Amino acid sequence: MRVIAIDGPAGAGKSTIARALAARLKLHYLDTGAMYRAVTCAAVQRQIPVDDRDLIAELAREVIVEVQDDGVFVDGEDVTAAIRTPEITAAVSAVAANSGVRAEMRAQQKAWAVERGGGVIEGRDIGSVVFPDAELKLYLTASPRTRAQRRVAEAGGDVDEIERAIAARDHYDSNRADSPLTTADGSVVVDTTGLSIDEVLAKIEALI
Ligand code: DC
Repeated sequence: MRVIAIDGPAGAGKSTIARALAARLKLHYLDTGAMYRAVTCAAVQRQIPVDDRDLIAELAREVIVEVQDDGVFVDGEDVTAAIRTPEITAAVSAVAANSGVRAEMRAQQKAWAVERGGGVIEGRDIGSVVFPDAELKLYLTASPRTRAQRRVAEAGGDVDEIERAIAARDHYDSNRADSPLTTADGSVVVDTTGLSIDEVLAKIEALI
């Protein structure tokens, strides 16, 4: 199995880099954040409070989450756009802090990789917890301002407000009890501040 693990905070460039790297290495790509977002979306649709730990964990075990190249699906319903709304973005950290949800998502991520002989997998705990023996473990980061500016370039909005929201989510993701966002043992930290996509890819390819 060939696994490249990419972790890091929101807006560090993980998705862009992971997708490009997967294409270059002819590996599959998995966005694990989309899985937590899909469970959050299912909870909101069913009006289950995201802080009801038992019900949310049960929901995560019940629904069928599919993260595919052409979209994200929950029980066959296309939620590709719905998982990116500010409502879901604001609620997802609470769902991602739920240990029952994390256990289920990790099991699904491992099964996904086994079925495909590995892949480029991005998230927050991929190198630290899910695939500690990955061939390469990367921790992508960038200054909060840069990360906010990238989000604004993609989706618009007020840069100060987005920077504050990113900082709040980083804080929550880094301080939760279960597998907080952290650099894994043996991971290579790549600061993407001021670097183009090609410059980041060149740095990473030099490590493979
Ligand atoms: O990368 P993203 O913004 O789509 O991630 C959504 C949320 O899920 C974010 O708050 C962190 C969390 N997450 C996680 O806890 N573990 C992962 N492997 C991936 C994402």
